[in-house]
Amino acid sequence: MNQVDRIRENAEMFEQLLERHPDAIQSVDSDGHIIYANATASQLLGYTREELLGMHISQLYAPELMSLVKSGFLRLQREGELSVCDSAMLDKDGQRIAVEIRSFAIYDDRGEFVRTFSIVRDIRSVKAMHDRLMHASRLAAVGELAASLVHDIANPLSTIRLAGSLLQEELKLVQLQQVDPESLKTSLEIVDTAVNRIESLVVQLRNIARSDEDTPQVFDLRSAIRDALVLVTGKLRKAKVKHELHLPETSCQVLGRESEIEQAFMNLFSNACDAMQGCDRRVLAVSLAGEDTADGRRWRCQVADTGSGIAPENLPRIMETFFTTKAKGEGTGLGLAIVQSILRHHGGNLDVASSLGQGSTFTVLLPALG
Ligand SMILES: Nc1ncnc2c1ncn2[C@@H]1O[C@H](COP(=O)(O)OP(=O)(O)OP(=O)(O)O)[C@@H](O)[C@H]1O
Ligand SMILES: [Mg+2]
Repeated sequence: MNQVDRIRENAEMFEQLLERHPDAIQSVDSDGHIIYANATASQLLGYTREELLGMHISQLYAPELMSLVKSGFLRLQREGELSVCDSAMLDKDGQRIAVEIRSFAIYDDRGEFVRTFSIVRDIRSVKAMHDRLMHASRLAAVGELAASLVHDIANPLSTIRLAGSLLQEELKLVQLQQVDPESLKTSLEIVDTAVNRIESLVVQLRNIARSDEDTPQVFDLRSAIRDALVLVTGKLRKAKVKHELHLPETSCQVLGRESEIEQAFMNLFSNACDAMQGCDRRVLAVSLAGEDTADGRRWRCQVADTGSGIAPENLPRIMETFFTTKAKGEGTGLGLAIVQSILRHHGGNLDVASSLGQGSTFTVLLPALG
């Protein structure tokens, strides 16, 4: 076989390999138009190959992801590689397909960007499992929470009972036509405030238990943090932990699932509480600020405690699934693994700095919207 035949045979072999690859493979030119798509890509997206070729990449994504797709494309050109572990593409019928995308940039001899090469994996079944795990752990959190809420609900309930008996007394006075309308109004206002308090607790419980937030939504990170704090109030109070909250004045928008982010913060706050047990100073400080990076704007939220700190030999292991230093029945070792999984699904990350006996600071990084 001569050289030319060998090259041709190799080229055919690579073409077959690309065609039959179980992942969708596509290539996009510098303007964002598709110039290659394998058979799996057309199967996954429901378009014929002819329809895909020449199509602009933006047509394959939901409108709310457009700004992330644009910034990802620029970053890919600049850095040469990009991995997005939780994205969603739209098929021909407009159905969302959860995908993981790994892209590479191809440059010419002069170093000019020419095209991208992407491997797109269908992760719908993995995603379904992730969602089930999230739901199960949210329900577990609801159970834990219900215990601490007993106290929160009992207080307004006894207020209502008291106001009820006052109203009955006042009713007798109404019959005798000796009632002061102002005192009736006050009793009714007390009932109203107490009912509102219970109602907001019920709404919070329902929010954390819900599993119907399928599509990412735009939300304010500040309210997710505030709500997460409210949800651990019982635990903070029991552990006699003071908290400080430093949030920006204006909205901090994020695209994602608010209940998951709320759960991530709850896990961090709950760990901080546990770590401060038996410490003299017990302060949980939460701060949030925006920062600009080469990849665009992001939010940096620091959750700092004055607790036991983490031993250097444990530090590399704390995010492993089932790693715990807590006694049996007190910790499963799932908390931080879930936090990390949630943040990665949102294109973010979790960092930690800790010194033994001094405390720990967990840093949550999340892409800002816009
Ligand atoms: N703020 C903190 N201060 C000190 N150690 C911490 C802190 N957060 C986590 N750790 C350490 O990391 C380990 C793993 O934390 P993780 O939240 O994953 O599991 P857990 O809290 O032990 O159990 P679970 O969250 O499942 O109830 C903890 O057991 C603890 O040793
Ligand atoms: Mg934990």
